[in-house]
Amino acid sequence: MFNSGGGDLMNYVRNAWYVGAWDSDLEQNKLKAIRILAEPIVLWRTQRQLVALDDPEWILGHGQLDYQAEARYINDNLLDFSHLTYVHANRFAPVGRGADELTDGWSAYDFLIPGVLLMWSGSFKLRTAAECNYERPDYSQALRGVTFTSQAVTPTGDRTARYFFPGARIDSMAMRRSGMLLMKIAAQAFGEDKIMIEAQQRVIDQTVDPVIMPTAGMNVS
Ligand SMILES: [Fe+2]
Repeated sequence: MFNSGGGDLMNYVRNAWYVGAWDSDLEQNKLKAIRILAEPIVLWRTQRQLVALDDPEWILGHGQLDYQAEARYINDNLLDFSHLTYVHANRFAPVGRGADELTDGWSAYDFLIPGVLLMWSGSFKLRTAAECNYERPDYSQALRGVTFTSQAVTPTGDRTARYFFPGARIDSMAMRRSGMLLMKIAAQAFGEDKIMIEAQQRVIDQTVDPVIMPTAGMNVS
């Protein structure tokens, strides 16, 4: 599908399914121009299809955000939960801490090439992590709402990317009522990420021979 590209775009796989647009953003016989890996692409809907989802356990809501930064820096940000407490100091309570009690927090991603992130989160009673040997807990034992979100990052061009953020599955009525508030807070948080990631891109661009520092799980020799 793609036959050109260079520079930083060589860091991304080709012949793969990238997210191009939300289903609801494609109207019948109306052209929508996007770029994926700097390739200009036109999307349109040829036949009206109605997608209906009426499940009380699902909150529907989504958005997208364009970055003046490489897609891989957004992936890096999303995969690094340690940034929550300083980039989003005013938005999220520290992981594992509820309103009036200490709990163990579980957050885990499946990161799918080329840039789809599936995340589960939940709060559990203290010491659950140790009892599970720091592996995946039993979600049915969660103290509070277990959430599932899917996100996608599409490299649109050289140092530009589009971040698609989703609705969430909410497993309790209380969480369901606050679901849209949750989405609003998340959207504000993504604005904070955008400032940080675009600044990161500028700093990297101004750095001669930048070296990417390895993170956990990598051996340095
Ligand atoms: Fe963030």
